[in-house]
Amino acid sequence: MELIHTVDWMNQVARQARTDGAIVGLVPTMGALHDGHLSLVRAARDECSSVVVSVFVNPKQFGPTEDFDRYPRTLDADRAALEPLGVGHLFAPPVEEMYPSDFSSAVLVEGLSERLEGRSRPGHFRGVTTVVLKLFEIVQPSYAYFGRKDAQQARIIRQMTRDLNLDTQIVVCPIVREPDGLALSSRNSYLQGPERAAATVLHRSLAAVRERIERGERRADVLADEMRAILSAEPLSAIDYAEIVDADTFEPAMRVHGSCLAVMAVFIGSTRLIDNMLIEERDGRITCTL
Ligand code: PAJ
Repeated sequence: MELIHTVDWMNQVARQARTDGAIVGLVPTMGALHDGHLSLVRAARDECSSVVVSVFVNPKQFGPTEDFDRYPRTLDADRAALEPLGVGHLFAPPVEEMYPSDFSSAVLVEGLSERLEGRSRPGHFRGVTTVVLKLFEIVQPSYAYFGRKDAQQARIIRQMTRDLNLDTQIVVCPIVREPDGLALSSRNSYLQGPERAAATVLHRSLAAVRERIERGERRADVLADEMRAILSAEPLSAIDYAEIVDADTFEPAMRVHGSCLAVMAVFIGSTRLIDNMLIEERDGRITCTL
C-alpha cells in the first residue's frame, strides 16, 4: 500500500490506474478507522480492481464550537488496519494541500443540506460536499463507498453526483454495530464511564420503534413519540432531534410507507451521536433494517 500526501501525486496515480483499465473504488474517511470504515473498504475491494482510501479530517465540515481539534488522528494505526485488506493507496493530505490559503469555492446541495443534521450543524454538509467533490476530482473513482450510518450525508452526495453529472456511482453500505447495538463511530472514543452503557439508548429506541411497526403501528407521530420517550428516559441523554422522515426528501413522514428512516441525533454527556433505522415497504410488508 502506498501512502500519498499530495494532491498532484494522487491525481497522477489515479489517472494512470484508469488509463490502465482499472476500476477505481474510493472510500472517503476522516480516519480513526473502525470496523464500520473497514466494511466499506471490503465492499470496495470486492467490486473494484484498485482501492483508494482517503483519510482527511476536513476542517470545513466542523462548526466553530465543534470537535475539529480533538477529533482522533491515528494515521499509523489506520495504515496498519488497511495494509492487510488489499488497499492500493492511502491518500492522507495535509490541510494546506486540500485548502491552499486562497481556496474560495464551495459546493452546496440546497434543501436536503438544510434539514436535520444540517439544521443542527449549519455549514456541515456544505463542507462535506465540497471535500467529497474535490476527492472525486482527484481520484476519479468509478465507485465511491459511504455508510448508511450517515444516511443524510449519503443521500446528499448521491444528489450531488446526479445534479453535477459526476461519473461516480455511489454505493451505500449497512451500519456496523457493536454487539450491544451501538453503531461504530470514531466519536464513541469520547464516551466516558457510564456514558458508554447509556449510549445504547439510541439503538434501544430504534428497536422499540421496530417492535411497534411489527405490531402494526404506522402513524409516524406515535412512532416518533415512542422513540423520544425511550431516549428521554435515559438520564445521561439529551435529544437533538428524533424523527421519522421520508428517506428521499428527509421531510417528516405522516405514516410509514414507501421508504422512511427513523433518524436521531442525541447527546450522551457532551458527545453527539447519530443513528438511524431504514423502514421499507415491499409488497405490502414493512421491513426495518437497523
Ligand atoms: P467518517 O465519519 O470517517 O466516515 C467515513 C465513512 O464511514 C462514512 O461514509 C460513514 O457513513 C461510514 N461509517 C462510519 N461509521 C460507520 C458504521 N458504523 N457502519 C458503516 N459505515 C460507517 O463521513 C465522514 O467521515 C466524512 O463526512 C467524509 C465523507 C469522509 C467527508 O469528509
